[in-house]
Amino acid sequence: MRAASVADWRELARRRLPHIFFEYIDGGSYAEETLRRNVADLEAIALRQRVMRDMSTLDLSVTTLGQTLAMPVGLAPVGMAGMYARRGEAQAARAAAAAGVPFALSTVGVCSIEEVAATGAPPWFQLYMLKDRGFMRDLLARAQEAGSPVLLFTVDLPTPGSRYRDVRSGFTGSGPLEAALAQLRDGVTHPAWTWDVFVNGRPHTLGNVEAAVTQKGRVTDFLSWIARNFDKSVTWKDIEFVRDVWKGPIVMKGVLDADDARDAVNAGADGVIVSNHGGRQLDGVASAISALPRIADAVGGDIEVFMDGGVRSGLDVLKALALGARACFVGRPWAWALGGGGEAGVARMLATLRSELTVAMILTGCANARDAGRELLDLTHSPLR
Ligand SMILES: Cc1cc2nc3c(=O)[nH]c(=O)nc-3n(C[C@H](O)[C@H](O)[C@H](O)COP(=O)(O)O)c2cc1C
Repeated sequence: MRAASVADWRELARRRLPHIFFEYIDGGSYAEETLRRNVADLEAIALRQRVMRDMSTLDLSVTTLGQTLAMPVGLAPVGMAGMYARRGEAQAARAAAAAGVPFALSTVGVCSIEEVAATGAPPWFQLYMLKDRGFMRDLLARAQEAGSPVLLFTVDLPTPGSRYRDVRSGFTGSGPLEAALAQLRDGVTHPAWTWDVFVNGRPHTLGNVEAAVTQKGRVTDFLSWIARNFDKSVTWKDIEFVRDVWKGPIVMKGVLDADDARDAVNAGADGVIVSNHGGRQLDGVASAISALPRIADAVGGDIEVFMDGGVRSGLDVLKALALGARACFVGRPWAWALGGGGEAGVARMLATLRSELTVAMILTGCANARDAGRELLDLTHSPLR
């Protein structure tokens, strides 16, 4: 199958990836209510069709945090992408750079910040609050040294949400023998992945945190280390520490409440990503798109407002812009495209978003992505009414 849409990349990833990794990417927490809501609420918003408005000149670019993005889209930090394709973070970073959009590297990426920066495009860097502040300081220094322009500080994961699919697939919670058997079965049934990633994609470690992890037999050993080292005591006061160490812009990722967004402004953040971690944390919370307008109204004049969660097309991108986002990020779409087609897959997925956004702008009469506002929506048909 030749992928025409984000949904097609999901299907290709399902065929190509070992079951445990497909389920890890695809799944959400608990009953996956929020995951479904993220997608469904975006789908349910109607765009307002406008015609006969000379749309021969379009500008999809936006400027934010000192950078110009060729279109208002970025690749959200996704853990362990180097298990979806050989040195996956580096491949995705190259595709993002070619499309003129930011790639955000997860704390728990397989490729280190240095390996990704060596592609020529230093990534935005994502970090969690870890108990070991000395280790955080070192990591931030490494990211700064590598030329990372923006820090995404993830605040919605003081503890990991429970993901039933990962238990069922054997990804988490299984013993070493059970895990080895599952890996063997997956390897035999996915030979292309085995050759590309298992054989040629080594080392299978998490490059940013490798030095601090003592037990590192399997890639999931690193995840257990991270889970043990997340700091549940974190408050806005601790942002002072991050502010002190990090000299560039800081964006708080995982804000879903307008009061928290105001606290982020007071803590000196340069931006927020309205996000519920793609429905992977507290199931049952509001969709990201439904939280966006309140947050944009509350703080959009003071700091940059981004969103992620459920964006599956260029039409969704325009809806997010119309509701107050400067740009939006995609998580699963690029992970699926990477798993389904490597760097070329991510490049094609981004090209699809771009052409869909172009059509949406032309048919809503929006010549400039910077000017997108609520007038582009038909709110009589919206769940946000
Ligand atoms: C497989 C996977 C791994 C993720 N890992 C991280 C991570 O390491 N750090 C982080 O801040 N967010 C992580 N996220 C959340 C994404 O950055 C983003 O918020 C979410 O995927 C957006 O929703 P979407 O997948 O519907 O686009 C992850 C998401 C997925 C799907």
